[in-house]
Amino acid sequence: MPMITTIPDLKTALPGPKARAIIERDAKVVSTSYTRDYPLVMARGEGCAVEDVDGNIFLDCSAGIAVTATGHSHPEVVQAIVEQAHKFLHMSGTDFYYEAQVRLGEELAAIAPMQGSKRSFFGNSGTEANEAALKLAKYYTKRDNVIAFFGAFHGRTMGSLSLTASKITQRKGFGPLLQGTYHAPYADCYRCPLGYRPENCAAECLNFIEDQLFVHLVSPDEVAAVMVEPIQGEGGYIVPPNVFLERLREITTKYGILLIADEVQSGMGRSGKMFAVEHVGIEPDIVTVAKGIASGMPLGVATARAEIMSWPPGTHASTFGGNPVSCVASLATIRLLRDGLVKNAATVGAHLLAGAKALMDKHQLIGDVRGRGLMIGIELVRDRQTKERATTERDAVVRECFKRGLLVLGAGRNAIRFSPPLVLTKQLADIALEILDQALTAVRR
Ligand SMILES: Cc1ncc(COP(=O)(O)O)c(C=O)c1O
Repeated sequence: MPMITTIPDLKTALPGPKARAIIERDAKVVSTSYTRDYPLVMARGEGCAVEDVDGNIFLDCSAGIAVTATGHSHPEVVQAIVEQAHKFLHMSGTDFYYEAQVRLGEELAAIAPMQGSKRSFFGNSGTEANEAALKLAKYYTKRDNVIAFFGAFHGRTMGSLSLTASKITQRKGFGPLLQGTYHAPYADCYRCPLGYRPENCAAECLNFIEDQLFVHLVSPDEVAAVMVEPIQGEGGYIVPPNVFLERLREITTKYGILLIADEVQSGMGRSGKMFAVEHVGIEPDIVTVAKGIASGMPLGVATARAEIMSWPPGTHASTFGGNPVSCVASLATIRLLRDGLVKNAATVGAHLLAGAKALMDKHQLIGDVRGRGLMIGIELVRDRQTKERATTERDAVVRECFKRGLLVLGAGRNAIRFSPPLVLTKQLADIALEILDQALTAVRR
């Protein structure tokens, strides 16, 4: 297959005829619950480039929702997959042993942001990783209740969904959800519910846990865990001040509550460090990862301090979890992350963030630009004073980017997220910024 050299490169009106035909077939047979913002039908990918079925080339700053960490079909990842596929595809790490799963457990024990020995549970997705963490926390502490945050997205299976508090469409119609789940305000400093400024904030929003939840609703000695995204992803790419996670660690330690860091979106190098909690320096008790962990192969992992993950055989398992092909893809991914991609996420991310901030001078529609590494959110507002959410404008900007060959996604009600593959170069970042600039201009008109 020829290398893709020009990115982006549009050849047909969008969607092209082949894409249109596939979308029509999809409408008849695929669940209507999926959220497609624009009509991209992928044929192949290479690094940060995506080619659609009509031969149009796009610059991918979505990475299939923050997944393809090493870029589309990185040759080393593909080679690892092919070699493993020739040996065997499956044997279930639940009932048998194979070395790839052990090696991945060793790697995760080495990189997970906690001291001491660690063990990992292997599933297939982010929501499964969080289900495992939730069950483990309950089992270990023998406590029933859990706390999460408003704006959080932890997945869509019933346990994780009970902790998710992002969009109401995700919960509506599915009740009753898990009993004993409570939510507290997240440190969304651009919209601080208490009116504080980030400079002089001491994470007062967390007082809600001790002054309200623990006084009126749930006794702290009956709380198993607090689950938190160190950077809120689906909620709008919200970066809390360090003090928020520091105080959360203090509160959880004080009451013997486990702290679960959901790094499904922020982990595996995306934030410019292997795990986003490393920016703060706190240690969770359990960390969950998925998305970028295997560059696109399905894998979700909950890694816990070994002392916590000591539940007896049969308490939790998964037929497909820790599939050997996914495990070797993950091992290749971790090697590439260590060998430079985490660093690249930090440097190119800083470049992209500065470029997006510079666009604020030109575009009043941008209310806030924030992020760490290649996890960047651009919040659109109708008025910088009132911060009225520019929801329809955000959707329009995402579509205008697509029309110009740039793939981005929305996050939260009115933010655009940049979550490109971690192989993004500064040159490609500049192209992305140029297209964003044009898209914002088109929507303003
Ligand atoms: C922070 C976080 N946790 C969990 C999930 C759920 O992952 P999955 O869709 O793989 O179940 C997501 C997905 O967007 C996420 O961003």
